[in-house]
Amino acid sequence: MKAKAFAPAKINLTLHVTGQRVDGYHLLDSLVVFADLGDTLHFTAGEALSISVTGEHAAGVPSDSRNLVWKAAEAAGWTGHIDLNKVLPHGGGIGGGSSDAAATLRMIEDEGGAIPPGTALRLGADVPVCTSASPNRMRGIGERLDPVTLPHLPALLVNPGVEVPTPAIFAALQCRENPPMAEEIPVFEAPQDCAEWLGKQRNDLESPATSLAPDVAQVLDALKDTKKTLLSRMSGSGSTCFALYPTMKAAHFAAYEIGAAHPDWWCRAVQLN
Ligand code: C5P
Repeated sequence: MKAKAFAPAKINLTLHVTGQRVDGYHLLDSLVVFADLGDTLHFTAGEALSISVTGEHAAGVPSDSRNLVWKAAEAAGWTGHIDLNKVLPHGGGIGGGSSDAAATLRMIEDEGGAIPPGTALRLGADVPVCTSASPNRMRGIGERLDPVTLPHLPALLVNPGVEVPTPAIFAALQCRENPPMAEEIPVFEAPQDCAEWLGKQRNDLESPATSLAPDVAQVLDALKDTKKTLLSRMSGSGSTCFALYPTMKAAHFAAYEIGAAHPDWWCRAVQLN
């Protein structure tokens, strides 16, 4: 058996931290979408589990049991070789590892395998939403998902090449009980009205991330200054930030602007949904 899976980048359009559980995990209220850009996985069934990691962001990604893809396959009792092509920067707040693990679970399920209940959440708080790979409002620590209808959003993703450790960002939060998002998410006609509404919501991790990693603030400033930007914000716990645009043409132009000024930053025009 051979199979292929796509692991799209996950973007938190909003991320409100609304509380903390006794085990230390934070309660979130987050609007999550996915990009038309991501990692690719090729699976070949076999006797034993093995992984090879290739692609522009392969460096530093473990090819053994430390990889979330390995843990996902193991949890579902799947064996064989997995070739993981890393297009997404890891540790970047766009769910690289979580989306890879989710794509592995989807493939196993599509091939008729059984996934033990609770596996996705056990692998990581972002894995359940990545398993859906579609727009969702995510609550709890990531286990409560409500599908949302959103327009396709032209966007630019920018990563300055610094990794910000998620636990350190959560630990640096000044306030752990912030207001949730508006109860009802309106129906949006176009990127413009969606961005206007998003502008009234937040990513509560942005402030601790910009304190711990000043490069994040630099990226946000640069995105704000691009032509036709509707909104700029950090995704997840960073360091990747995004900006929204009215059209893909404007997103590509912004990619050109940022790429020319900061050739060392990872910068991709994408469509989100
Ligand atoms: O579940 P995941 O491995 O993605 O989380 C990484 C770390 O981020 C956790 O160990 C925890 O410190 C922090 N975290 C949190 N609350 C969440 C998600 C993650 O405190 N909802």
